Parts: sequence; C-alpha cells; structure tokens
Amino acid sequence: MITGGASGNGRAIALAFARHGADVVIADIRQEPREGGVPTQQLISQQTGARAKFISCDVTRLADLEAAVATADDLGGLDIMVNNAGILTKQSLLEAEEAEFDRMMAVNVKSVYFGSQVAAKRMLVKGKGAIINMSSIAGMRGTGGYAAYCTSKGAVRHMTYALADELGPKGIRVNALHPGIIETQMNIVDDPVIGTSEGESYLPMIPLRRWGQASEVADAAVYLASDLASYVNGASLVVDGGFLRI
Ligand SMILES: NC(=O)c1ccc[n+]([C@@H]2O[C@H](COP(=O)([O-])OP(=O)(O)OC[C@H]3O[C@@H](n4cnc5c(N)ncnc54)[C@H](O)[C@@H]3O)[C@@H](O)[C@H]2O)c1
Repeated sequence: MITGGASGNGRAIALAFARHGADVVIADIRQEPREGGVPTQQLISQQTGARAKFISCDVTRLADLEAAVATADDLGGLDIMVNNAGILTKQSLLEAEEAEFDRMMAVNVKSVYFGSQVAAKRMLVKGKGAIINMSSIAGMRGTGGYAAYCTSKGAVRHMTYALADELGPKGIRVNALHPGIIETQMNIVDDPVIGTSEGESYLPMIPLRRWGQASEVADAAVYLASDLASYVNGASLVVDGGFLRI
C-alpha cells in the first residue's frame, strides 16, 4: 500500500512496485494525478500485469487508514507499507499560522505514526513486513522558511528509528527515505523551486547538477522493500544527487 499514490513520488513508487510484481493499493484523497495523466491504478493495469486498487483515504484519519489496509486483504494481504503522503507549505516562523502548522503535522507526521500502526497490526500476523516512511533532506538539515516542514520530516526520521527498534523483533523492517529536490508538483507548484530563477540557484549545489526524478525515489523504495535489503532496518536512505553529503 502506498499513501499519496495518486501523484508524484507515490505514483512512481506504486508503478515501480507493480513492475516488480507487487499488487498495489493506492490510498489518496484524489485519484487524478496532480501532474496529469490517467490515475495510477489505470497506469498500472496498462503497463504491468499487477493488480491495483484505489481507495479514497485521508491519511490524517485513523479510520480511513484502517479501511485502506483492509483493502490489501483482498489482494493477498499487506506486505509493504509506504507512508508517503505529505504536504509542504513554505512559511516563515514570524508569519506562520497555527492551523497550517497543525495541518502539516497531521498529514506529514500523524499519518506516518498511525499508518505504521495499522500496517504493523497486519504484518504481525504474517511475522514479516517492510514499512517505508517518506522523510526528506529537510528531515536532516534545517532551512529557514521551512521550519514547520523540517520539523515534520525530522519527526518522521526519528519515528522511523524508534519503530525499527519496536517492530524489528517482530520481523518488520522500518526505514526512512530522504529525497532531495524531486521534480513533482510539490516543487513546481506548492513551492516553485523548479522553474524559477531563485530555485535554479540550488542546482550548482547538487553534485549531479540536476533535479531528481520520482522514478529514482521509487527505485530506492523498491530496494528498501525488497529482500535485497533484508538486513537494513532503522536506516535513512538519502536520494538527493549528493546535495547533503553528510
Ligand atoms: N518532491 C520532493 O522534492 C520531495 C522531497 C522530499 C520528500 N518529499 C516527500 O515525498 C512525499 C510525496 O511528495 P510529492 O513530491 O510526490 O508530492 P505531490 O504533491 O506530487 O503528491 C502528494 C500526494 O499526496 C496526496 N495527499 C496529500 N494530502 C493527503 C491526505 N491528507 N491523505 C491522503 N493523501 C494525501 C496528494 O493528493 C498527492 O497525490 C511527501 O511526503 C513529500 O514531503 C518530496
């Protein structure tokens, strides 16, 4: 199951998982990809032999998350959970609004906590599973104007380490992904880094001298979910073209 799988990174992860033989549940508040194109479940049916189901799910609501993982039962049960749904609002501390802070924490942090809970309850029965939590380079480095987003992604990072400790003995691996600047609507529309002169000034700071593609985040997710990563637990995998170098 991939939350936020209608668009961007989540859509690419869903497609990559399907290409590697997984049946996929896409849990999102919308079906239409933000970037345009056919819904992810349709794309998967067109391009792969995997089964894919969409379920309307607001990840800030525990009841929605429970209903979404139950959908995976119809596809053979939940093996992999990707807590990917997230939002970004740029706001300076001095102008920040309480409601927006609360919304970002609910979508970016609470969702990962309870998404992991509902997934782990099902994986316990199988004695096996992999949970991947979407953090960011913003979860490792603080940047002015992004304090709330950085807070949320830092929380996801540390939550991942604690859950890896709690769930590892039960056969469930929990890891975090930390993408850099990826070409999705988040960076084109919500916080227009890509395509603006201010944003383009980041490019010389990235050793690979280009933005990342969602498919490259997806390849890292496939690795973390697969048996190739069977001894990888409580790890942070950075996919940023060398931007952070820490
Ligand atoms: N794009 C980047 O550069 C970048 C970098 C680091 C981390 N990330 C993280 O990757 C994840 C995906 O981001 P993206 O760039 O693909 O963004 P996106 O906006 O393209 O896609 C986000 C998806 O999440 C869904 N979503 C939003 N709120 C939801 C909710 N309450 N319930 C269910 N679904 C919801 C949206 O409908 C959308 O389909 C986020 O957690 C983001 O913070 C992105």
